[in-house]
Amino acid sequence: MLFSNLKINDNDPIYTQIKNHISDMISKGLIPDKSKLPSTRELSQILKVSRNSVVLAYEELKSDGYIYSVSGKGTFANSKKDVAKSSWCVNWNNLENNYSKTATKMDIIKNEISWKSNLISFKSISPDGSMFDIDELKKSFLNRISLEGDKLLNYGYAQGYKPLIDYLLEYMNKKGVDTSNKDILITNGFTEGLDIILSSFTSPGDYIICENPTHNTTIKIMKALNLNIINVDIDENGLNFNMLEEKLSKYKYKIKFAYITPSYHNPTGIVMSPESRYKFYNLMKKNNIAIIEDGFNEELLYSSSHIFPIASLDNLNNGVLYIGSFSKILFPGLRIGWVLADKNVISKLESVKRCKTIHVSFLDQGILYDYLYNGGFEKYMKKIRKFYGDKFNFAYECAHKYIPNEYILGDGGLHIFVKLKNINCRELLDKCYEKGVIFMPGDIFYVNDYKHDTLRLGFSRLSFDDIEKGIKVIGQCVRDIENPKS
Ligand SMILES: Cc1ncc(COP(=O)(O)O)c(C=O)c1O
Repeated sequence: MLFSNLKINDNDPIYTQIKNHISDMISKGLIPDKSKLPSTRELSQILKVSRNSVVLAYEELKSDGYIYSVSGKGTFANSKKDVAKSSWCVNWNNLENNYSKTATKMDIIKNEISWKSNLISFKSISPDGSMFDIDELKKSFLNRISLEGDKLLNYGYAQGYKPLIDYLLEYMNKKGVDTSNKDILITNGFTEGLDIILSSFTSPGDYIICENPTHNTTIKIMKALNLNIINVDIDENGLNFNMLEEKLSKYKYKIKFAYITPSYHNPTGIVMSPESRYKFYNLMKKNNIAIIEDGFNEELLYSSSHIFPIASLDNLNNGVLYIGSFSKILFPGLRIGWVLADKNVISKLESVKRCKTIHVSFLDQGILYDYLYNGGFEKYMKKIRKFYGDKFNFAYECAHKYIPNEYILGDGGLHIFVKLKNINCRELLDKCYEKGVIFMPGDIFYVNDYKHDTLRLGFSRLSFDDIEKGIKVIGQCVRDIENPKS
């Protein structure tokens, strides 16, 4: 192909024509630096010329520095010398759209203090990897790949791996959800599920209700999509229904969705009572506002029995889109979640999923399904409920004991939430960082980042010793700020 444009003419010497062609290609960067050229024998056959002409051309190219030979390996281009040096600098900052600007501005990984080996970090709410059942997962991998073979490695279906979909439909049924008019879409975790729903059913400028504070990624996606977020406070008294009703009457008919995390809410850790779920569901139904229910870690209960998701109140209606995820209750690295909704909704989301990323890896879905089906998940849940439950109770007690606070929240999950008495969480974070402790400042969870006196403490990956040590440091730093001279 490199030589298809070289038409040998009868006027100039053949070796000059070959030499000029190659030097021109190298100068333009069409033969990249260090790439291998055909041997003299090969090139003479390609061009149907004598080998001598090619040898002569290569000799001259070598002496001009365009090519070099390595004995036993061949002849290579040396383009550094001549490739066009004119510069080209696209102004990507000017081209960037709101989506990218928002994603970058709200990128916690880039903008917040990151973990270093000697820090006690309460930032993360990822599971503790040492609890993962690697052997069980290896078995699932071998089992599934021998059963399904190449099918798991070929293109699959956008909606997801059928056995996994059926498993999850039954799983949701056991949670009290009537699935007879529902279906499931498998997604890359909760995050993709939310993104697909919002990209399918909202347009810039649409209104959406959100608890305030709420999951930072959710705020980021909504802002990136230019949605108007109507924030409704959630605090030690739970969701502020008076505020919700005020906003409903103010923005009547404009609101499309309400996003809510009723169990182990992030960041407050609150679980919404069955009565409040009922009240919330009926308010949304009355106002014809579809509910996006985030059930990301509702399995992580440590004491009382499980409260049914809001989706279970929807019966044969179609007003609730439930998003589940295995990120907290199993392995976040698999990036597998699901959307459960009315069949017609799932059919639309399926097409959007196909349009965006085709489907979630079938190999991953197959392994996960095998692990779930063979009881690995149930065993793991029993183990981690005890493991995280003990840590949760300990962290909760330590926080009460050591941190001067207005209130501390948390009913389960992998974190607790501390409301300070007028202490700026950023100032506190700086002081704690000097003493080797970091946490997630609460302001990142607020829609308009106006609350600066809260923090989220994730304890899942810390030892009991570090939980106590770290919380003591935070408490001491709070007191240092309260009484600067003491
Ligand atoms: C409120 C909430 N929903 C969902 C998730 C899980 O998201 P994903 O499944 O994309 O990892 C998280 C993770 O921190 C979360 O805090």
